[in-house]
Amino acid sequence: MTDPRSAAFARLRQLASRPDGKRITKLFAADPARAARFTATMDDLVLDFSKSSIDGAALDALFDLAHTAGLDDFRQRMFAGEMVNPTEHRAAMHMALRAPADAGLRAQLAGKPDDASAMAAAERIRMRAFVDAVHAGTKTGATGARFTHVLTIGIGGSDLGPLVATEGLTLGRADAPMQARFLSNVDGHAFQHATFGLDPARTLVLVASKTFTTLETVTNAHAARAWIAGALGEAAVPHHFVALSTNLPAVAAFGVIPEHTFGFRDWVGGRYSLWSPVGLVIALAAGWDKFQAMLDGAWSMDRHFRDAPLRQNLPVLLALVGIWHVNALGCDTHCVLAYDDRLRRLPAHLQQVEMESNGKRVTLAGTETGWDTCPILFGEPGTNAQHSFIQLVHQGTRTIPVDFILAANPDHDRPDAHRALAANAFAQAEALMVGKSEAAIRAEMAAKGASQADIDAMAPHRVAPGERPSNTILFDRLDAFSLGRLIALYEHKVAVQGCLWGIDSFDQWGVELGKVLANGILPELTPGAAQGAHDSSTNGLIARFKALRRES
Ligand code: F6P
Repeated sequence: MTDPRSAAFARLRQLASRPDGKRITKLFAADPARAARFTATMDDLVLDFSKSSIDGAALDALFDLAHTAGLDDFRQRMFAGEMVNPTEHRAAMHMALRAPADAGLRAQLAGKPDDASAMAAAERIRMRAFVDAVHAGTKTGATGARFTHVLTIGIGGSDLGPLVATEGLTLGRADAPMQARFLSNVDGHAFQHATFGLDPARTLVLVASKTFTTLETVTNAHAARAWIAGALGEAAVPHHFVALSTNLPAVAAFGVIPEHTFGFRDWVGGRYSLWSPVGLVIALAAGWDKFQAMLDGAWSMDRHFRDAPLRQNLPVLLALVGIWHVNALGCDTHCVLAYDDRLRRLPAHLQQVEMESNGKRVTLAGTETGWDTCPILFGEPGTNAQHSFIQLVHQGTRTIPVDFILAANPDHDRPDAHRALAANAFAQAEALMVGKSEAAIRAEMAAKGASQADIDAMAPHRVAPGERPSNTILFDRLDAFSLGRLIALYEHKVAVQGCLWGIDSFDQWGVELGKVLANGILPELTPGAAQGAHDSSTNGLIARFKALRRES
């Protein structure tokens, strides 16, 4: 049976193929009120999606797709804690992590449903008590020394979300109660870098792992354990280790005491877990009040997403614009430029949230989608991106939609610098849209006295085609509340897009094969080990690696 989404996607492609169907400037010329009509707000948060080729007919067709895909029903099912992650038989109830204790959010699991918001709130009480004790110096290291540094060990969702939040709230600030170090990669250089200059006696080690089986994290956790035990004795381990996981037996086996163990449930996906005990490092590094404010910001976006009419719903609108670019215009990539150095790791976090969620090719029905799904997300802080890849975005052969993110008020006292930052953000979005025609370049060169030969030679190279789309997300200032709200905006955008693409946004089966193959190759790398049964390239590379290796 043909998925009804197919006709809706065909309609979008047909609208995009209209004459001038991709020309943004034409839409502005035809409608002086366009910017206002294609901007949505939520308090101080502004989403301007007018610099896109979406007109009224396209927007209607996008909402028709949302209707066809059952978005309203999906949204309700998600907040009801139903199994919106059917391949893992789980709910996706990360909203409960930031909801008040009495919000009544449940996660329907086999048997008795969890009172998810109450469970999460109860664990937060334990987390807060722990953070307060560490900050007060009543909970110390084995030697009695106060903890000054927190080393958090985790990877993927157990790293990227906590990292972007910790940096977003503490980068460059003198008032951070603790210094945080992040260790994710199994590469020994990462351990060297993360522990460089740390005093074991003053270092609290968090092992953040939903499964507590991830090779990188377990390997690093044992290396850290040896580092602490080697410096302070085996008896020091219980004082210095904290575990954040769903796998309590594995945590206990590692030697973490129950008082230092903070749990969460399977209805929290890894890439959505920074709001859970996995985010303990955020509270330790930035302070509990900021962690709680971040939760409050995300919860405000949850309620907006749950309650706002679809046409005024920021996650829905951001999702639909993305669907237009991917499925109507055929864009394969999407760029996120946060004009804020404190958000320098936001693209990395959003890569996991978006691409691990929606990097799928099979629908919930188990059939291959007949349409593209998640684009390739990349990004760097603005203005740095202007000096690396923005050239391609302006003059390359591809259309790459860009999200510009900017806070109107900085947390520094250099208004000149902030004005320069903002001017660049606005200018880049304008330049991508309006471009610069060959006629304008020829006239400009002629006015400057260039020879006709030079004009003929140079003009084609200086043309900026324009008509390149972008969204601008603008808000008052980057603080804990607005940071939580921003991340939740993208989380819900991803869920909406997954619904419209008809896929499971909350599983990640694609990461399993690599893990299994790595476990098979690992013993083959031991000196003297027999060759494995791989292709000639893999076998050859392993052999060359072993020939070059000088085992210490
Ligand atoms: O990348 C696969 C993955 O399972 C992610 O979904 C997850 O965030 C990461 O590995 C780490 O998993 P864990 O928190 O269980 O160590």
